[in-house]
Amino acid sequence: MKAVRIHQFGGVEVLRYEDAPRPVPGPGEVLIRVHAAGVNPVDWKIREGRLQGRISHHLPLTLGWDVAGVIEQPGPGVTQFNVGDAVYARPDLARDGAYAEYIAVRASEAALKPKSLDFIHAAAVPLSALTAWQSLFDAGDLQPGQKILIHAGAGGVGHYAVQFARWKGAHVVTTASARNASFVRSLGADEAIDYTATRFEDAVRDMDMVFDTVGGEVQARSWKALRQGGILVSILALTVPGEAEQHGWRSAYVFVQPNAAQLTRIAELIDAGKVKPVVENVFPLHEAARAHAAVQGGHTRGKVVLRVAD
Ligand SMILES: NC(=O)c1ccc[n+]([C@@H]2O[C@H](COP(=O)([O-])OP(=O)(O)OC[C@H]3O[C@@H](n4cnc5c(N)ncnc54)[C@H](OP(=O)(O)O)[C@@H]3O)[C@@H](O)[C@H]2O)c1
Repeated sequence: MKAVRIHQFGGVEVLRYEDAPRPVPGPGEVLIRVHAAGVNPVDWKIREGRLQGRISHHLPLTLGWDVAGVIEQPGPGVTQFNVGDAVYARPDLARDGAYAEYIAVRASEAALKPKSLDFIHAAAVPLSALTAWQSLFDAGDLQPGQKILIHAGAGGVGHYAVQFARWKGAHVVTTASARNASFVRSLGADEAIDYTATRFEDAVRDMDMVFDTVGGEVQARSWKALRQGGILVSILALTVPGEAEQHGWRSAYVFVQPNAAQLTRIAELIDAGKVKPVVENVFPLHEAARAHAAVQGGHTRGKVVLRVAD
């Protein structure tokens, strides 16, 4: 099969479109014929070797941990899927990914894809939407009527977070550059702060939750926006773990986990018209390097997706 793999860590030039062995689904796994693969910042971070201390990757490695496709072959013991089912998944980051014509994933990581979406849009959902869901609802326990500040509401994770928070009935404030102000409002944000012109911590106070998708100094400045007892949920490293608690705030770090039950719930919300993925750009599989350059630039709106098959 064709795949985009790396044989060494490095820049976009290490991405190779080449022949690779077709995976064989083991017990409890399914072989998916990939139609589309979502592109996420973790893809270029792994390509550069930045997660090496955390995940031991074998080389060559197929990148890409967002997939939408069709069940080609259920492995031994798999009863919940049949050949031909249209599914989506956020597979295990430690294994070969979805920049390929086929991927083997644990059946427990996959769910039926939203019926209302094509494969391109379905591949834009799992990793980012699960991250937003697990941050807002599992770590943050967001409640109706609460006030949340979501950083980077126009981004891959942020644009789901804004929609989920709105659906939950929270008051949603988000940061975005001016060109994305109407975009984030269309997703359901009550207020958009142009972070290039205004210091957000001067504009908002007494938030019940801050969802940090940027990290660094944005995270450091975010505490001021919280009420006493409020929580900062970050998907980037907490710069000073434990410090917040000394000042009466709470904090949590989230590293997204595969979760088929949550993917099924998210598919219901999408099919009910409550949430929609936004795809800014689609590239063919062999142009993965262009997709990486776009995502690594840090200013894409919504998601970037690779088209693998029609
Ligand atoms: N821990 C986990 O499990 C986990 C899971 C997913 C992602 N992540 C990490 O979370 C980060 C975000 O991921 P993503 O997929 O959402 O990224 P993304 O889609 O590449 O984010 C791009 C967006 O960020 C906005 N942005 C950039 N700088 C900003 C700033 N200072 N303030 C506000 N908005 C800003 C841009 O909007 P403008 O163009 O308007 O500036 C753009 O829309 C990445 O570092 C990723 O690796 C972690």
